[in-house]
Amino acid sequence: MTGTSTQTTANSETPAATNDAATLVVSNKGVDTYGRLLRYAFPYWTAFLIAVVGMAIYAATEPAFAALIKYMTDDSFVAQDPEAIRQTPLLLLGLFLVRGLAGFMSTYCMKWIGRKVIKQMRSQLFSRLLTLPTSFYDSSTSGKLISKLTYNVEQVAQATTDSITVLIRDTLTALGLLAYMFYLSGMLALTFAICGPFIAIIIVIISRRFRRISTRIQNSMGDVTHITQEVIDGHHIVKTFGGQEYETRHFEEVNESNRKQQMKLVVTSAASVPLVQFVVATALAGIVYMATSDYMGEITTPGTFMSFVTALLMLLPPLKRLTMVTGGIQQGIAAADSIFAVLDADPEPETGNKTLARAKGNLEFRDVSFAYHKDKTLVLSNISLKIEAGQTVALVGRSGSGKSTLVNLLPRFYEIETGNILLDGVDIREYKREALRNQIALVNQRVTLFNDTIERNIAYGAMEKATKEEIIRAAEAAHAMEFIEKLPDGLQTITGENGVLLSGGQRQRIAIARALLKNSPVLILDEATSALDTESEFHVQAGLDRLMRDRTTLVIAHRLSTVEKADRIIVLDGGEIVETGTHQELIDNKGHYAALYRMEFDTDT
Ligand SMILES: Nc1ncnc2c1ncn2[C@@H]1O[C@H](COP(=O)(O)OP(=O)(O)OP(=O)(O)O)[C@@H](O)[C@H]1O
Ligand SMILES: [Mg+2]
Repeated sequence: MTGTSTQTTANSETPAATNDAATLVVSNKGVDTYGRLLRYAFPYWTAFLIAVVGMAIYAATEPAFAALIKYMTDDSFVAQDPEAIRQTPLLLLGLFLVRGLAGFMSTYCMKWIGRKVIKQMRSQLFSRLLTLPTSFYDSSTSGKLISKLTYNVEQVAQATTDSITVLIRDTLTALGLLAYMFYLSGMLALTFAICGPFIAIIIVIISRRFRRISTRIQNSMGDVTHITQEVIDGHHIVKTFGGQEYETRHFEEVNESNRKQQMKLVVTSAASVPLVQFVVATALAGIVYMATSDYMGEITTPGTFMSFVTALLMLLPPLKRLTMVTGGIQQGIAAADSIFAVLDADPEPETGNKTLARAKGNLEFRDVSFAYHKDKTLVLSNISLKIEAGQTVALVGRSGSGKSTLVNLLPRFYEIETGNILLDGVDIREYKREALRNQIALVNQRVTLFNDTIERNIAYGAMEKATKEEIIRAAEAAHAMEFIEKLPDGLQTITGENGVLLSGGQRQRIAIARALLKNSPVLILDEATSALDTESEFHVQAGLDRLMRDRTTLVIAHRLSTVEKADRIIVLDGGEIVETGTHQELIDNKGHYAALYRMEFDTDT
């Protein structure tokens, strides 16, 4: 998932792949994956049964056709039997009618199962995405995840349905035809059977190659989506920084790699069919020689010979499809592997079972240290901090000092390894995740708006049932109503993807309104007013002040004028608390805060 785009351009066989010594058609892992895939289809076994019956009937029509040829040649043509002359066309029609119906029945049922499986897999992937921890998203690109949901899932459907159809129907067909050939002439059929092992070898080689290439194709499809998405999301930057050439080059690389891998599949499949056919043709040549020379003991009539050759020729298409089917299955297995990897990723662990109606809002950090990655440097070290319910605490400090990290630990976006964080005296890990998060309203540095109406953006998620009055009140407190009223559709205005149709400050005010509507005992404002001009900020601040009074609030702001009124100011530096106190105390202290304040004051005036 973390694979970079350049990884997929490496096109030579990887050593790992060539070491894959198991010369089985499908390796053990493949069997596991396929077994797991089939479990998805298992609930639909009745449909599957109907499909198999359809396939069996369909398969039986093939030797029946070969038999009809014998009847037609010997009785209609050679013997000129009037009965046979009358019957043959009718039999022919009947045969194809049955074949058509059976074909329809099996295709419909298999596709129906396939679509069910696709839908279920997509739903599972989607709901897994909703529960994955933040660290998972930090380490994967959205493009690749999206491509799994769209492209890979479709490939899985092929493996579970199309390939299975071919596997069952064509195996039955081939067996039926072979049996018929044996019935006609065991000797000739044996001659033909000699080519079986050769065909098997070709199939084994092809299927191994297919899986390898398929994984690369799926990865490169992920890259294609990923780059496209970045260019779409970042089109402003691409335009102003002249990124077109870079992106074009980058995309060309990925696109070309995708094409190359696809062509490898084409070469493999295109070469395999003639190879198999050549093997069969060799057998056919032998058979024709034997049948027309002295060996011809068993071939008694021209009809038998015609019928035998017909059966043999009819054997070619199913053999061809069977050669290819492993390819489809391998593609599906490769795709399923990548999907199962996401489905198997650990969701956020539920460590507690305490529920909480409404917290008082006492917060405490006890000797908390945190690093984003084990064995990497600490981003926060030995943070101890007590916040009484209803207090407003401001976090200030240089960029990168760990302010956002600290507040992100509260809703458990990341898990701490050392120390404790307590809400109302209880470790936050003892609460149910949902119960904990219900207590917290968050406005973070990167405002997220959904492509919906302003109203739905304010009353998002669990607040769906908020009344119009409540929504308007929240919007007013956030001073959002003043611009919302001026919009042609008011609260019903669509914000565009991530709020593109609004200004930065307007977006922030909607995010604040959303947090205010939640009316939770803990409020986190991470640079929540940074995009506002001084006047709007003043107004929003007034609204916020009123709301902060009865809830515990953590404010992060670079503009120190907005944190002056906080009950306490915490100064972070390099992940450590270096100073705490009220604005006045810290100014008098002449320490970090005073220095920061002086600097801002100097540049502001
Ligand atoms: N998801 C992440 N994975 C790894 N490291 C991260 C992640 N987010 C932040 N960091 C690192 O943690 C450190 C603290 O980042 P943080 O976002 O907490 O800083 P901040 O004080 O909020 O800065 P700013 O004022 O610029 O918002 C930084 O060095 C940053 O590189
Ligand atoms: Mg930050």
